[in-house]
Amino acid sequence: KIAVLAYSGGLDTSCCLKLLEDKYNYKVVSACVDVGQPEEDLKEPEEKAKKYGVYAHYTIDAKEEFARDYIFRAIKANAMYEGYPLSTSLARPLIALKLVELARELNADAIAHGCTGKGNDQFRFETIIRAKAPDMEVIAPIRDLNLTRNEEIEYAKQNGIPIPTESKKYSIDENLWGRSIEGGVLEDPMFETPEDAFAWTKNPKECKEEEYVEIEFENGVPVKINGKKLSPVDIIREANKIAGRNGVGRIDIIEDRILGLKSRENYECPGAVMLITAHKALEHLVLTREELKFKEMVDSIYADLIYKGLWHEPLREDLDAFVDKTQKRVCGNVRVKLYAGSIKVVGRESPYALYSQELISFEDKDLDQREIVGMVKFHGLQAALYETVKNKNK
Ligand code: ARG
Ligand code: SIN
Repeated sequence: KIAVLAYSGGLDTSCCLKLLEDKYNYKVVSACVDVGQPEEDLKEPEEKAKKYGVYAHYTIDAKEEFARDYIFRAIKANAMYEGYPLSTSLARPLIALKLVELARELNADAIAHGCTGKGNDQFRFETIIRAKAPDMEVIAPIRDLNLTRNEEIEYAKQNGIPIPTESKKYSIDENLWGRSIEGGVLEDPMFETPEDAFAWTKNPKECKEEEYVEIEFENGVPVKINGKKLSPVDIIREANKIAGRNGVGRIDIIEDRILGLKSRENYECPGAVMLITAHKALEHLVLTREELKFKEMVDSIYADLIYKGLWHEPLREDLDAFVDKTQKRVCGNVRVKLYAGSIKVVGRESPYALYSQELISFEDKDLDQREIVGMVKFHGLQAALYETVKNKNK
């Protein structure tokens, strides 16, 4: 029997690899889906998998798809969950889909993952796998055996799996859209995140100068940075680089996991923070207040679906229809100023702007002020009527 294992080369998934062979009697095909993690995070699993003698190892490039079909949708919906731009969450359904495709190709019997029973990722992987391949067995060895980290280390020692060194003191997940950092000393929510947890963002204390960035959007998605036209993957990389070198995008929050557990989470999402900030600013220029108000609710529901691993829920596609319609006018330029961890929108322009410099100007006479008198007079009519009745029942 063959099991396709989502393999990162880390402690959890390396233990899974051995457990699948020894305890579950599967031949293991390890797979690593490239969603923009660093080169070495793709090479390391390949090397390790070969060393452990897996049946086969695959690296699947899904960067372009991730940027175009996932991240761009998240930008259009300003997707944030409790202040988290959903970097890890957004990649999970795509990874799961790629695992299903591979498992089908290989006629595999099972798909395995290294998630614990405490986290969110188990939900995100399994909902997709069950929907797309209901016949496929799903195996989660760490959860199955209720393993603690120390038990994993013990098992690793016995099975020739290298145990994580000092340098791996946090649990890290990286992709194009951001970097998640959790575990270790960070589990104490009162303990300030040490500088060594960060890799994508410069220490704001060391940022000396401010930097201006101009971002052009077309139909709600970024197409140019500082006048340079870039592909979806490259524009996100560029956004990460620019915002990161200005210390922008560090996030430290208490997050409500799907299960209900509260967890302390750190993220570095420089590009996401910059692009969503700019995108929102442009929406405020071109959408009506009614649209903005309604879209804020839609955005929040959209983010919830991503967080909960319900990317394949039809509601997500229904909401996309609404979002896409609004985004037809979200075209134009936004200028932001980055400085030592902060970001400010300092300019915006669009051919679809509902802003009228003529009408808003105090020098204008087209909008005849006298015509407003009647409207003002009856504004708050119900509150005025309330004043006349509120003391009746004393
Ligand atoms: N809490 C985040 C989420 O649920 C990040 C999870 C990160 N995973 C990890 N293995 N470090 O999306
Ligand atoms: C895990 O539990 O395997 C990782 C963290 C998460 O899923 O939230």
